[in-house]
Amino acid sequence: MSARAIVLAAGKGTRMKSARPKVLHELCGRPMLWWVLAALNAAGVDETVVVTNPEMDPLLAEFGVRTVIQSEQLGTGHAVRVALDALAPSEGTLVVAYGDMPLVDRTIFEDVQAAVDADAGTALALVTARMPLPSNFGRIVRADPSTGSGQGVERIVEAKDCTPAQLALDEMNAGIYAYDEAALRATIVQVTNANAQREYYLTDTVELLIAAGGRVAPVPVADYRSVLGVNDRIELANARAVLNRRLCEEHMRAGVTIVDPATTYLSPGLTIGADTVIQPNTTIGGATTVGANCVIGPNTRLANAALADDVRVTESVVVDSAVGARTVIGPFAHLRAGANLGAEVKIGNFVEIKKADLADEVKANHLAYIGDATVGPRTNYAAGAITCNYDGVKKNRTVIGADVFIGTNNALVAPLTIGDGAITGAGAVVIRDIPPGDKQVGNPARSIAKKPAET
Ligand code: UD1
Ligand code: MG
Repeated sequence: MSARAIVLAAGKGTRMKSARPKVLHELCGRPMLWWVLAALNAAGVDETVVVTNPEMDPLLAEFGVRTVIQSEQLGTGHAVRVALDALAPSEGTLVVAYGDMPLVDRTIFEDVQAAVDADAGTALALVTARMPLPSNFGRIVRADPSTGSGQGVERIVEAKDCTPAQLALDEMNAGIYAYDEAALRATIVQVTNANAQREYYLTDTVELLIAAGGRVAPVPVADYRSVLGVNDRIELANARAVLNRRLCEEHMRAGVTIVDPATTYLSPGLTIGADTVIQPNTTIGGATTVGANCVIGPNTRLANAALADDVRVTESVVVDSAVGARTVIGPFAHLRAGANLGAEVKIGNFVEIKKADLADEVKANHLAYIGDATVGPRTNYAAGAITCNYDGVKKNRTVIGADVFIGTNNALVAPLTIGDGAITGAGAVVIRDIPPGDKQVGNPARSIAKKPAET
């Protein structure tokens, strides 16, 4: 299937009471508009134009999508007209959707396109949904069967323009349309603003298309919740919960155990290996990959993290960092900005690691800081040891070899190189390089190793 789409997003979203445009509020780590664009994209729409307003337009650059500015918000019909004026006419199908419905999925866009493509006499297919009342959605008025025209859609009446009898109708206009583009172009210019809100309603095209001899095909959606719009922060929270649940279910189906989906916060695009268990109160976002058979959480945050297999992270934060297989982190550890851990490393409580490469089997179990450093395999880094990486002007590196023992409460004043197998005593303040195998204590640290006997 191939089609073009117009997404309307120029409205002010006043009910959000926000300085930020409504469609840029985030759900599960992505702006509202992202979800709509992703669903359109997945449905095979190959060109999308977003109708925006002058203030919002610069903020849409991140989407890499074409925008058209509607300088005054005169209604959805007016917005579509502005978009059509900017688009070169073409023969095919034109999908129109609103940017405030992040719960839509690929299938809804596919179904509505298929319905308009099914037969040449159909000028418009539109998604409808049965919903509990009361509702602010536009009502679908079906033709009276006694007139002989069947139960087809006759028109859409906005809630604000409804008679009490129309308000009692429970079939709603979802706000997702697939038009025959030529028919839409011929009709949109006839839409007026003679209604309660003095707005140009896109929904008026229904009656106009029928009057011109076209057919309007309703496409009922299976679950009305997938077309709920977001107009305020309560609806935003509800929609987020639905999206998050979908993300959790995707991973659960692929073999991940999620103990409590309601308190597991995921983003799209994550990779999580089979038999990994995610404990409650855990947030996983950014471009994160988690291997198989890991245990993540409870109370953990991973962002832009790359975890190998069999990793355990408990009550900790791992951001912009990589963790090797069978490594154990936490509780209460903080890895950030390029912490790069090998296999079978142990990082315990109140340990912060930044821009540091820790080789296999390094241990830093309590109360430590390792920043701008390289630590060799099997080195033990005791409680309270700190790399003093910042001299007040610039960051300096600490290089620690293999099988080193860094004592309790050490201050390692960088730049510094500590050789393989070296040992430092408790409380040492190391300001000079330590040769391999040397033992140093004190402040400033000095060697207490026995010198080899002179011959
Ligand atoms: C609209 C529909 C209604 C439907 C409901 C579904 C119309 C007239 N009504 O009502 O039938 O049941 O959506 O959610 O279409 N926008 C612009 N420019 C404008 C006005 C609006 O770009 O001048 C954009 C908004 O940013 C929004 C979308 O169009 O993303 C819909 O506008 P909104 O005011 O939310 O319409 P509803 O009252 O929800
Ligand atoms: Mg709306």
